[in-house]
Amino acid sequence: MCGIFGYVGSRPDAGGLVIEGLKNLEYRGYDSWGVAWKEGSAMEVRKDTGKISHLNPEDFGGDTSHIAIAHTRWATHGGVTKVNAHPHLSCDGTIAVIHNGIVENFDELKKELTKKGHTFLSETDTEVVAHLVEEEMKKTNDFGAAFRQACIRCKGRNAFLALHTQSQTLVAARTGSPLIVGVGSDGYYIASDTPAFLKHTRTVQYIDDGEMVVTDGKHILFYDIATGEERMKREIAITWNPEQAEKGDYAHYMLKEIMDQKESVARAVNQDEKDIETVAKAINEAKGTFLVGCGTAGKACMAAEYFFSVVAEKHVNFAPASEFKLYHHFLKPESLLIVVSQSGETADVLEAMRVAKSKGSKVLAIVNVQGSTIAREADYTVQINAGPERAVASTKALTGQLAVLLLIAYALTGKLKEGKKLLLETSSMINDMLNPRYVERLRQLSELIKRKEDLYIIGKSWNYPMALESAIKIQEVSYIHAEGFAGGELKHGPIALIEQGTPCIALMGKDEVTTDMISNATQLKSRGGFVIGVSPQKYDAFNEWIKVPDAGNAQAIVNIIPIQVLAYFLAVQRGKDPDMPRNLAKSVTVK
Ligand code: G6P
Repeated sequence: MCGIFGYVGSRPDAGGLVIEGLKNLEYRGYDSWGVAWKEGSAMEVRKDTGKISHLNPEDFGGDTSHIAIAHTRWATHGGVTKVNAHPHLSCDGTIAVIHNGIVENFDELKKELTKKGHTFLSETDTEVVAHLVEEEMKKTNDFGAAFRQACIRCKGRNAFLALHTQSQTLVAARTGSPLIVGVGSDGYYIASDTPAFLKHTRTVQYIDDGEMVVTDGKHILFYDIATGEERMKREIAITWNPEQAEKGDYAHYMLKEIMDQKESVARAVNQDEKDIETVAKAINEAKGTFLVGCGTAGKACMAAEYFFSVVAEKHVNFAPASEFKLYHHFLKPESLLIVVSQSGETADVLEAMRVAKSKGSKVLAIVNVQGSTIAREADYTVQINAGPERAVASTKALTGQLAVLLLIAYALTGKLKEGKKLLLETSSMINDMLNPRYVERLRQLSELIKRKEDLYIIGKSWNYPMALESAIKIQEVSYIHAEGFAGGELKHGPIALIEQGTPCIALMGKDEVTTDMISNATQLKSRGGFVIGVSPQKYDAFNEWIKVPDAGNAQAIVNIIPIQVLAYFLAVQRGKDPDMPRNLAKSVTVK
């Protein structure tokens, strides 16, 4: 959470450049924004609350500056105010700091620095870092060395980027939150994620935990924060292109990413067969396999419990990553942990993974973001190849995760080719589904229910996690109170909530639970529920029918598609921005 971007080099438009790149990081937080650049010998700072999409890069220094940093905030300490927006400055105004994470001991540091005469303007934890570096600068004239000492004193999982006007230097440090260096022909770019600088370079160097970098735009040096020793770094080429990260003619990223699923599921399926077989072998040989993920990725894990059971007769356990703490007692060196994460940076997932590694267990990561921390730290990694996902509400990453998990389930029983065939057929079904008529039908349906304040979704087997996922999608973008249930659980409580006209969605396939689901949908209808059936076949229990293809064991993948479209239109019809739901951020790097 929070987006960080900085540049130093030969380009003279550093202020505008960082603002432009920051717009590609807004998914990480959008409470407030701020930028600092060096103009002449002075530090220029602008900040404000609200989103940054309307900002004109030309208003940030023009061709006057070669060094700048910018930040988009998801508030943790201190309210959403202009004063609390980053960057924060030292008393003498020569050091500007932006930050992602929480400085856990900031209170103690603030008291100490206040006693030494430092004046604080904001309520943030970040501001202590600017003053701490200033204090360290009294002992050494070396900005990098002073910054390293300051980092050593800060507790917590953090990423910092600081600009020093006098030495015209950027320093960045990572102690838990992501930071990546973009190596350009015209200087160095430092960001929390690659979309900030993809337009300028696709050559990167990863800053690992416990490392920092110092750059003047001509050279860059990596150091171990604890020892101060220099570290060597490889340059890595990434394959995402800038166009994939743009929304093109679509009104919102969410819609664009829903439409991307015409191709992204096939990309997830087209894996190197040897890699999938290696992973399947590891699962088959493991004694105890756990699946963990958060939010939408967690729902993919939950669906995989059913995939593994139905397709491979294999028992696996799912736990939300944030709940994994009390499960790790089971872990043994022969256990396997499968972590699923779009961003590859989610704090709870990383923690679960590190606990597993400390117990000697192996970790398989299913991720989207190339080179992310989770991808780099896992023993085995499978990329879902969905391309950049920018909308906070995850869509194409989910279907990619489901496809890879189902493919692995087939590989477990030596039926990889059969799984691949099914999933490629499913991909072409999605391509057919997402036609203008189908989308319009869902828009019209959203008109019918847009004024409702409660909505319930039911499903059985793999459609149960999809019911939970449907609820997340609808809640987070439209703010309608939506809840998902297992169809059979209805009569144990939730049915008491159904009144005349309450919208209820039943997610169904053509399978061994269809009869039970018809009965559950009928129970809803007979209590006055307005039943929307998402199903390959029409039944009397439905007031409205959204036809989906019969995708067999891949039904979960096709069933979630119309719900994503419906959620999108519900948000738009209710005047909400589906790309930036309130209080949320896409990459949750704090606990
Ligand atoms: C946030 C996002 C969700 C996402 C979850 C897990 O809550 O808003 O869309 O599913 O984090 O993120 P990950 O990157 O680990 O998949």
